[in-house]
Amino acid sequence: MIHINNIIHFLFKGCAMVPSSSHIIMSGSSSQDLMSKLSPLLSIEQARPLVSRFADGEFQIEIKENYSNKKVFLLQSTAPPVNEAYMELFLLLDACKQGQAKEVVVIMPYLGYSRQDRKLQEGSPISARCMIQILKTAGAKEIWTVDIHSEHTLSAFPGTLKNLEAQDFLADEISKQVNLSECICVSPDLGGLARVQKWAKKTSCQGTAYIEKERSKPNEAKALEVQGSVKGKNIIILDDMIDTAGTLVAAVDKLILNGAKDVSVVATHGLFSKTALDRINNSPIKQVWVSDSIPPKKEVLESKKIQIISLAGLLKSYIDSSMNKM
Ligand code: R5P
Repeated sequence: MIHINNIIHFLFKGCAMVPSSSHIIMSGSSSQDLMSKLSPLLSIEQARPLVSRFADGEFQIEIKENYSNKKVFLLQSTAPPVNEAYMELFLLLDACKQGQAKEVVVIMPYLGYSRQDRKLQEGSPISARCMIQILKTAGAKEIWTVDIHSEHTLSAFPGTLKNLEAQDFLADEISKQVNLSECICVSPDLGGLARVQKWAKKTSCQGTAYIEKERSKPNEAKALEVQGSVKGKNIIILDDMIDTAGTLVAAVDKLILNGAKDVSVVATHGLFSKTALDRINNSPIKQVWVSDSIPPKKEVLESKKIQIISLAGLLKSYIDSSMNKM
């Protein structure tokens, strides 16, 4: 049955003043800040799930708004604490299912476990794939993430898992501050070289280089050699994430040793775990740009070297085009 509000939405789609009654957006606890920037850009009703806890730590979820027969956009980045964010997301999804949502698009700006996208050794799970399977079982029709760590997981879920590319969006914002055509764009490892080459084309960077990296175990990186010419150049390192900043600081030291003039960094996901901030603040890094896929901690906001670029505009454009496809 076609509802009159759907007809109104269809006639006026694209007009910010007509809220769609066939869609609703909500966020879990980890993406409240991003939601406060995104929601005013959209013409969709926002639900505000109530998330509380039992004494033993279990989540208790309640969504008071009516979302029956609506397409739900559910925003929850699986930012640290990653497991808590996932558990809340599973339960929010089940609430949507119980309340007869028409379909649910999960928007996870950061996909926790994405680095564990293959069997690392005998006896290991394929954790990224496992998380996506659970989300599907809990009721996600589509799962969107931003700048996924590798294409590997995407190919396992065609039509369900979608990667929203943010690095062009970030480049547009950064180029308002820096002349990127005067920079050399560097990947901190061979794995990221394709990403850097793509970015260099978009930004008309002077050239590209990468660093040979050796990893003895997770979060421990050793930079071996710089491949490419960086002497006397302004460098932009491009990576998908900064976790402990071990990879980054090792790369910066190597670049400076090879004569780089100054080094700035662009990374989509700023996890800043453990001593990452001290490492960055005490390094020769000039400037770091990250998105708000991970809600920035107070110390991140206070760092003079770190600038946050909101993904709200990027998410708005994907949500709008998904609504216009109905
Ligand atoms: C590695 O493949 C990733 O692209 C990042 O370079 C890495 O995960 C960053 O981790 P950390 O900051 O702990 O070195």
